[in-house]
Amino acid sequence: MTRPLLISPSILAADFSRLGEEVRDVVDAGAEWVHLDVMDGHFVPNISFGPAIIKALRPWTKAVFDCHLMIAPADPYLGAFADAGCDIITVHAEAGPHLHRSLQTIRALGKKAGVSLNPATPLSVLEHVMDDLDLILIMSVNPGFGGQKYIPAMTDKIAKAKALIGNRPIDLEVDGGVTADNAAEIAKAGANALVAGSAIFKGKGVDDYRKTVDTLRKAAEGGRA
Ligand code: DX5
Ligand code: ZN
Repeated sequence: MTRPLLISPSILAADFSRLGEEVRDVVDAGAEWVHLDVMDGHFVPNISFGPAIIKALRPWTKAVFDCHLMIAPADPYLGAFADAGCDIITVHAEAGPHLHRSLQTIRALGKKAGVSLNPATPLSVLEHVMDDLDLILIMSVNPGFGGQKYIPAMTDKIAKAKALIGNRPIDLEVDGGVTADNAAEIAKAGANALVAGSAIFKGKGVDDYRKTVDTLRKAAEGGRA
């Protein structure tokens, strides 16, 4: 079962003073999803934005809002992110003791449930929740900042995650240091959803973003062929 290739630009690398326009432009440029990096200064050493900003961005596009929660605890805020208009809500397996409960809560809110794993976290934490999730997000950098370098050992982890997924209807997403130089290798290993911040938000406006989105997509397609 081949799942569609999806490009999910991380607005962490966008111009924060004009986020609405940035979201509209990057979707007009061809991106399928919009990746929203929520950071709390506790689970990760950086603070970004929360549900109020996401709610303000919602009217700017119909594209899927792919929300990556780097917060602990996450459970008390899941309802707020659902209300804000997130379509996929991804929690970190390391962020709380009750991963299964978090996933159940997200699905009960009518949203797709994702689990993200830090680079050092083994895939085995997913073994008993595979029927309770819609997306696996493999972090290929240590979360907290954009513009970091891809950790090469993550390619093997992606391939193992793909094998774990088998024929289940689960998207396999990779986040951190994704560029046109490694997109083929990442897609070949089995990822179908690619997050990219600094590789996509170069220049300004639809025409510039169309070039960066296209370049990334073509590179990834090369790995899938
Ligand atoms: C890192 C975030 C990423 C980040 C990716 O904590 O989860 O989504 O924005 O940025 P790049 O593509 O620049 O590595
Ligand atoms: Zn992210």
